[in-house]
Amino acid sequence: METQSLDIKDLEKKIAALEAVKYIKNNDVVGLGTGSTAFFAIEAVAELVKNGLMIKCVPTSEHTAKLAASLGIALLDMDEVSVIDITIDGADEFDGDLNLIKGGGGAHFREKIIACLTKKEVIIADSAKQVERLGKFKVPVEVVPMALNYVKQELRKLNGLGEVRMKNGTPFITDNHNYIIDADFGFITHPEVLSENLNQIEGILAHGLFVNMASVVIMGKGNETVTFNRS
Ligand code: 5RP
Repeated sequence: METQSLDIKDLEKKIAALEAVKYIKNNDVVGLGTGSTAFFAIEAVAELVKNGLMIKCVPTSEHTAKLAASLGIALLDMDEVSVIDITIDGADEFDGDLNLIKGGGGAHFREKIIACLTKKEVIIADSAKQVERLGKFKVPVEVVPMALNYVKQELRKLNGLGEVRMKNGTPFITDNHNYIIDADFGFITHPEVLSENLNQIEGILAHGLFVNMASVVIMGKGNETVTFNRS
């Protein structure tokens, strides 16, 4: 597959994606992530399918569904499967415990449900996504619109300052017809505690902290990949 014309970040994304697709086996049900890194995995999956690999895939967003269908990948709705063998998805940050911040593309609700259904959650990333401590990237919080003010107040009680994500001057609307608040909690010392606290707030559909969900992170670094396995 062509990699020569890519800048270093895209090269790292692509080589991580190419490494990740090696985990897919014939007859697997495969979750397909969302974002610019997942794009390279979807492209590679399409190539494998063209070459005879028999799989069915579950997309994590409308965008991924359209892309995958256009590349000839057979799709299932997440509601049609009870187990997904492997999912390949991106992340905005990952730490040494393989905890993640996701949702930069606003797809983290479906990504989280699919991660919960998945036996092996493989995260692919360029090297800029590796952090000592999560939190430089604001935590995306998907909110039912009518609960916006309430959720903002509750986030403030957790020291989270958040603004509604905008796109072209209007609020960004998710595939599930909701808003996103990008919430700044500073550096997150206890992701599992913050995740639990956010889970308790009514009106939040899903937040972008993925704690104990990744099985493997494959990071592109220069021309090579580094694989981190959950211990
Ligand atoms: C979308 C996501 C993406 O996986 C995350 O934002 C990383 O995106 P990219 O690969 O474009 O950097 O969580 O909701």
